Amino acid sequence: MIYFNSNRSFPKVRMRRNRKSNWSRRLVSENNLNVSDLIMPLFVIEGSNITQPILTMPGINRNSVDRVVDKAKFCSDMGIPAVALFPVIDQSLKSDDGSESVKANNLICKAIKSVKKSVPTIGIMCDVALDPYTSHGHDGILKDNEILNDKTVDILCRQAVLQADAGCDIIAPSDMMDGRIGRVRNSLDGEGFQNTQIMSYAAKYSSSFYGPFRDALGSADRLKGDKKTYQMDPKNSQEALHEVALDISEGADMIMIKPGLPYLDILFQVKSLFNVPTFAYQVSGEYSMLVNAIKNKLLPKKDSVYESLIAFKRAGANGIITYFAEEVAEQLSKR
Ligand code: PBG
Repeated sequence: MIYFNSNRSFPKVRMRRNRKSNWSRRLVSENNLNVSDLIMPLFVIEGSNITQPILTMPGINRNSVDRVVDKAKFCSDMGIPAVALFPVIDQSLKSDDGSESVKANNLICKAIKSVKKSVPTIGIMCDVALDPYTSHGHDGILKDNEILNDKTVDILCRQAVLQADAGCDIIAPSDMMDGRIGRVRNSLDGEGFQNTQIMSYAAKYSSSFYGPFRDALGSADRLKGDKKTYQMDPKNSQEALHEVALDISEGADMIMIKPGLPYLDILFQVKSLFNVPTFAYQVSGEYSMLVNAIKNKLLPKKDSVYESLIAFKRAGANGIITYFAEEVAEQLSKR
């Protein structure tokens, strides 16, 4: 460690020298945000030519498939590597067991196919979980107040294969059931989708920062109880490492930590310990907090958003799923 060497001290050492000008600060920078670090989430609804604002997420909309295709095209033109598609399912199609999730040509399949066809260069990532499809808003099958693990995994495997078959590139199980990564990997392989990647929501916390997302999906008012029996307790960090270790051993290609900024310690530990491609999800609540502070002129837009994202890079993220992706990509292209 050079820091405690008595020969290296003030006034010989002046830390401000390297900070004295913009070119020098750029030269010594340890981390940089690149457009290739970004994944843009997009909410899809039925119909055509429809854009519906999400009131709890100013600036973010639900779009019909044709408009999602336009958005994906824009993202691709900007250099964003991938989009994450989230279907907003009509309430009439929601059921106790979420069976719409495994119907051929459901909304997510239509969206995947259209984006793949019109924008073949962009990666498509999709959640595997039942919450967009269940009448109770849970990620799994609910029976007598219990979320059934193994029965849920059965249907998730079918959902994963259906989405891979439609053209999804990255299957992202976000349900937090036990053993699902191994079983999803087996199902994909069994159906000939050996090359479909898996990004596991490995350390996903039972967080209050998902509220605006649930609102976007129309599942917020319907959620019975909470998700604490499957999502992680915010008090724990060693448990997150255990979750990540299991998912890697079961075949995850990439690992995600979620939410983002409140869990940077987890991200840092995971990246340092496992050295696998690791992603952070800057979730809806984080987005809405920042956007509202910006709207109220409490924070400067460009700099505060950039600072929130570079924090993920510093902590070791290979990439960030963020609702700011489109906007930041535009900013970066102007530099
Ligand atoms: C569904 C899912 C959630 C998010 C991504 N996938 C919500 C939840 O688990 O309740 C949250 C994303 C966000 O808040 O931006 N399993």
